[in-house]
Order: sequence, then C-alpha cells, then structure tokens
Amino acid sequence: MDMDAPVGANALDAEKVVGKSLDRVDGRLKVTGGARYAYEMQQDALYGFVVEASIAKGEIASIETLAAERAPGVKLVLTYRNSPKQGTGNHREAHPVLTGPVVSRYGEPVAFVVAETFEQARAAAFLVNVRYDRDGGHYALPQHLDQARVPHQTDGAPADSEVGNFSDAYAGAPVQIDVSYSTPLQSHAMMEPHATLAMWDDDKLILHTANQMLNQGQQAIARTLNIPIGNVRLVSPFIGGGFGGKLWVNADAILAAIASRYLKRPVKVALTRQQIFHVTTHRSDTIQRIRLGTDRDGRIVAIGHDVFSGNFPSEQVYEAAALQTRSLYAGPNRLTRHRLVPLDIPVASSMRAPGEAVGLLALECAMDELAERLKLDPIELRIRNEPAEDPEKHIPYSSRNLVACMQEGARRFGWDKRNSIPGQVRDGHWLVGTGMSAGTRGNPLRYSRANVRLDPDGLATVKMAMTDIGTGTYTILAQIAAEMLGLPIERVRVDLGDTIFPEAAGSGGSFGAASSGSALFDACQALREKLAVRAGMDPNTARFGDGHIATAERSVSLTELVGSGIEAEGEISPGRNNQDFSQQSYGAHFAEVGVDRDTGEVRLRRMLGVFAAGRVLNAKTARSQAIGGMVFGVGAALHEDLVLDPRFGYFVNHDLAEYHVPVHADIPPGVEAIFLPELDERSNPLKSKGIGELGICGAGAAIANAIYNACGARIRSYPITLDKILTHLPTQA
Ligand code: MOS
Repeated sequence: MDMDAPVGANALDAEKVVGKSLDRVDGRLKVTGGARYAYEMQQDALYGFVVEASIAKGEIASIETLAAERAPGVKLVLTYRNSPKQGTGNHREAHPVLTGPVVSRYGEPVAFVVAETFEQARAAAFLVNVRYDRDGGHYALPQHLDQARVPHQTDGAPADSEVGNFSDAYAGAPVQIDVSYSTPLQSHAMMEPHATLAMWDDDKLILHTANQMLNQGQQAIARTLNIPIGNVRLVSPFIGGGFGGKLWVNADAILAAIASRYLKRPVKVALTRQQIFHVTTHRSDTIQRIRLGTDRDGRIVAIGHDVFSGNFPSEQVYEAAALQTRSLYAGPNRLTRHRLVPLDIPVASSMRAPGEAVGLLALECAMDELAERLKLDPIELRIRNEPAEDPEKHIPYSSRNLVACMQEGARRFGWDKRNSIPGQVRDGHWLVGTGMSAGTRGNPLRYSRANVRLDPDGLATVKMAMTDIGTGTYTILAQIAAEMLGLPIERVRVDLGDTIFPEAAGSGGSFGAASSGSALFDACQALREKLAVRAGMDPNTARFGDGHIATAERSVSLTELVGSGIEAEGEISPGRNNQDFSQQSYGAHFAEVGVDRDTGEVRLRRMLGVFAAGRVLNAKTARSQAIGGMVFGVGAALHEDLVLDPRFGYFVNHDLAEYHVPVHADIPPGVEAIFLPELDERSNPLKSKGIGELGICGAGAAIANAIYNACGARIRSYPITLDKILTHLPTQA
C-alpha cells in the first residue's frame, strides 16, 4: 500500500497486544547467550586481522609481508598488490579496500592477515612492515572553514533553505541573538564491534555480518565485488547496536569476502575496539551559528542557522544540523545553510539522529539565551512561536503536540518552582539548576515488504529482511501480527535478518518500526482477506480473535481454514503523505543538574522526557528507546569528544577508556520518559512515528541550559566539561 490518504480505523486500534508493555520476545535468547552474533557463527573459520595505515595522507613506499607470511598459521596476507579490482562509489554505495599504494585517511586498511587462529593473525599483522611517504593534509574542521563548499547531496533535503528576507528582517529586529556553538567529533560506540564471517558456495557469497540495512548492504557488496546482487546473501539476525555505525558496509565485510574467496574457506574478522574508531565512520564535528530576531514580545521575525561540518573529500554527506530549524518554530523570514569542508580524515556519516542531535544542542540553547534576554519563561517563548503550519513548506503537520509535551513535562517536573536567575539554588557544595529543551525528529517511512504465513499448527511466521539492532523490532512485529491475526503473541514467530526474506528498509533513521511494521500490517491484512474468503465471510466485518475468525452469526477456528498453510505478502511505500504533510515526532526534555561550586563537576540529578510520537507499539521497548536516547544526550552534553590530532589527522582517544560515554554512575535513577497518547493518521497504517532517535533530540540542550541555570556558565562548546565551567564559577569568599 501507498501512504496517500489518512489511515482511518483499523484492526490495530483494538490494542489488545500492540502498545502493551511486553517483554522482548528475543530477551531470553539474548540473556542466555542463545542469540548468536556474526562473529559467533561457524567455528572452523580462518581468522583475519586488519593492518591499519599509520599515516593520514600519503603513499605506501614499501610494504614487506614476507615475515608475516612465514609466521605460524598464516594463510594469506592481502595487500593492494594481490587484491582484486573492485567497484567504487560513495561510502553508501561501495567500500573498496586495498585499492592501491595511496593512503587517504588514517586507519585505512593497508593489509589483511588471515591465519588459523585470531592470535596468529594478530601476531603476524604486527610483522607487516610498511614504510610511507607522507603528504600534508587537511584534518581539523575549524582550521579549514575557508575550504567550505555547498554539498551536492542528491538524496535528502537540500543544503540551503530561504523564506522571506532573512537579513533585512534580522537587521530590523528589536531583539537579536547571534551566537555560535560547536559540537565535537563523535563515535557511535555501540556494544558489538563490526564483525563478519564470509563464506562462498561456488560463486555465491554468504556474509554473516553486523549490518543495520541488509538490502542496502547487499547492493554495496555486489557493487564492490563486481558480482550479481543475487549472488550475495547477508545474514544478520542479531546485532549488538549500531547507532548508524553499521548502516553501511565496512571494511570487515569486504576484506573477509575477498580473503574467503581466495582461500576457499570461511574467514571471519572482528574489528578491535580501537580499530573501529578509524576503520568505520564517525559523526562530524560542527560549527553552528544561530541568529534569532524577535519583536519585543518574543515572536520570531527572523531565524537563521548556518552549519559547517566536514567529510572525506569525495563524500557529500553533511551533518544536517539546521534541519529541525526549518520546521520547529514559526517566523516569516528564514535562512538555513549547510557547508561542507573536505577533510583527509575517515568518512563522516550518520550517527543517531544525524542532524537534529547536534542541531538542537545549538538551537535550543540559543532559544534559552533568547528567553533570558526577553525575560520570558523558556516554555512561554516556545509557545509564542508555535507554528500553525510548516513555516517553510507551507503544508500542515501530520500531527504536532510539542506544546502538550512541554506543558505536561512542566507539570510533572515542577517547572513552576524554578528560579530563573542562575546560581541561586544550593545544596551543600552543589549549585543546582534546571533547564528544558524542545525536541523534534523527522519521521521517515521507507519501502518495505513482508511475508506472513499461517500453518496448520496455528503458528504464524513472519519473514522480512528487517534487522533488530537491539531496539525491539522482533517484539513489535510479533505484536502487530498477533493483533492483526487474533493470535496470542506466543503463536507468532518472527524471522528477520536474512536477505533471502522479503526486502525491508532495515534499522536506521527512525524508520525501522514504521516501515517494517507497516509492510507486515499490509501482509496481515491480505492474509485476513484470504482467510475471510475461505470462511465465506466479509473481510471488512469479520473479526479475528482467540485463534478464530468470526461474524455475529458464526465463528470458525483459523486452523480449519489454513489447509496445508496459507500465506500472504504485503508492502508499504511512502506515497504522497510525506510530501503533503510535515512529519515529525516531538518531545520536551527537563533536566536538573548539580555543578560543584569548587571543581565545576556536573552531576545529572534527574531528567524527564515527555514525547508525542504517534501510537506507541510497545510501552516497554518505547520507554527503553527514549531513555537510551536521553542517556545519549547526556553523553553529547557532558562526555563524548573524539579528539583529533590536527597535525597528523588521527583520533587520539580511540578506545572506550578515553572516549567517554555515560556509564551507570553518570545516570541517576530519576531519569524517566513518558509518551502522550497520539495517533498519526498520516504517518503509516500503524499511526506511529519513529522513536529510535527522538530521545536524544534536545536532551543535551536541556542539560546545558540546566548548567547555565545552576551556575551562570553558558558554555557554547560541547562537551561541557569541568575545565570549561571552572572559570565561570562564582568566587568563593
Ligand atoms: Mo541511524 S544514525 O540512521 O542508525
């Protein structure tokens, strides 16, 4: 089905199974070790180990592999000299490896050592002796802003947007805010390292690989290896997190595939934690300038957002940090611009809520600065700028409940007790403050297909090439099928993570649940019709429940109708609703922090996120996604900082000892997320919106605003570490 019309009442509205706070159907497998991840498959494989380039730019002068080749257990040392010619494209399209002597980024694989054991491969990898001729390069974004250019990304939103006359309106505005914020390089830091087991059956490749979007990956691998797409199968039933770091094919998959074909044996490889930082993608740092011009009542007359980010020279993907600024607040004169700086560092790509996650860190703090200037409550300022329609596209919102989120959050959080003057509230040596932020994230829907089958034993089986990266996809799909077919959830089996199943969008961009769930909805709808026809009933009025199909007059057990088994296919396409309606999810974040008056140390004390994101498919997994996103926001505000050495173009803190993400001790018990009731009739047949990324959107800004309220330090460079706060602290008597 295409999303071209409002959804109307449907079988999911009963919410007998959907929406409930159900445990994950794969939970037991995971906690008992029964869920097998890519690196845990097939025990008789050879092991590969990546040798990374130790310069950022230059050329391999010589590469000696003899010692490695003679080392115990070694079967193969791949370098550019013995690697096959591969297809090319941007990082989404292809991932050629070992293509020649030129080195264009630090950590780029220069050799791949395959041996009988992991230890042998690793030991031999250290025997590969590479000498380089080093060139100079451009590494640090702030040093090369003069190189910025307009990105020409062909998919997605345009780099610039302009409505009215921003510069005149801003110049004439009685109240003006002109502030610049910076956000650092970040790394996904998912739990499971990138890993692949490759094997060939004649000319057919099977890859067990950790990948978020299998059908995209299948295409990229076929293109890279110059083989037909039908000869590539990706298998990935369990994935230990991704956050965008596994959206696209990485070197592990291609190296394992090439080596396995060469050796005619399965080859497996996992990147080490340290390797992940350079060998895979990261989130670009950003420099953002926000200009807000208002009238004396705080109504925005001009809103401008300029963003600089960096990427590898051949890439066009930019950090779309001004995206939310195009739809979040009203105002007749608007200007947003993204500029991309070519840098000789690893490829920058999507990381959880690409765009909004860091864009809101700037916009929502600028709004806080504006509220203070106007002596307005930050919530009141936002309410005064609530738009009636999308202010740039001039189309209606599919649904928008930002104000309700802010008001409900304010009530629950006790916002009315806030002292808006910084530095007034103390608790021992802690300066205590509160802050809030609005949150929003785009709501995409992507083409997906699904197959559902009902067997004589009464078991329904769902098949899709969808992935579950830890979000709960298995569970919400089982709930949707159970609800639609009137079965208990125990009677639904969900098979995901294999490209032999119908094509699916995969997990990314917060489109996973909506896209896969809607395709499954459509398949179940088709199956209901087939069953109704067999029962001699009108499909529009027949009810499904307790394993039966029923009308007012009679009831038939489904097992009597299925024969030897009955199945149906379904699909979803975005349709017109995406162009005709402005689709976003919304939320409001509230944070309370303590800032140590002597050291500037920041401790989160409590946090509340209130979200409006359409139908909640599972209260438990939704809450878990939201809180996980909020914790991600805590990391963005306080911890995460991938430090680049501007001289040599490498990431200094490329491990989890020094790349800090929040740990349990950073997150107090009082972190809560709630969802307001909402059904979006334009989003998809589930009436849901994406929630995988909403939780992070705005969360960090609420913390930054709370820090300001606590101690008067307005830090515009993330992360807000204590060294930046220290000089702003009130001097002690
Ligand atoms: Mo997401 S950054 O599209 O995994």
